[in-house]
Amino acid sequence: MDTMTSPASHVCDADFVAGIGVHWERRPLTPEPGLAALLQQPDLDHGGKATVVQAVGTMVVDECVAHGYHSMDLVVLHPGTPGLDEALERFDKPHTHADDEVRYILEGEGLFGFFNAQGQERVLRVGPGDYLRIPAGVEHRFTLTAVRRIKALRLFADTAGWVAQYTQRPAAAMAAGS
Ligand SMILES: [Fe+2]
Repeated sequence: MDTMTSPASHVCDADFVAGIGVHWERRPLTPEPGLAALLQQPDLDHGGKATVVQAVGTMVVDECVAHGYHSMDLVVLHPGTPGLDEALERFDKPHTHADDEVRYILEGEGLFGFFNAQGQERVLRVGPGDYLRIPAGVEHRFTLTAVRRIKALRLFADTAGWVAQYTQRPAAAMAAGS
């Protein structure tokens, strides 16, 4: 990315991310034409999501086995998503989870903010092929870029316990489009 025109915190910093225990790797996507066409649609119905999950889920079987993820789904956000602004306001607040947050970005882009123990934040821009495992307890937040769309596979060990626990850390909104 072009760090010359980005705010200081918007630096892809692999050492920082690794230092707080976040696993970030590239798993490049090479979708066959049918899957690529689905991913290009702004929104997907239940059947479309299921098709994507079935196709892409095979690429993360190793993670399911290694970390005990028992279920997965596809989250789709786009400008027409009902309540998108309200949802982004929640996602943008620093929080933790009792379980891992696992995302495999398939289309679109987003910004993850990660906080270390000293309260310093680094923002990681993610796009297609980025795979992230944020361990339980690691403080983070998320927003979309100006593109305002993303499709990401989510992996869960236990969906029932997967809720945000807000840390109440004062933090200015991550700038969309930066
Ligand atoms: Fe989260």
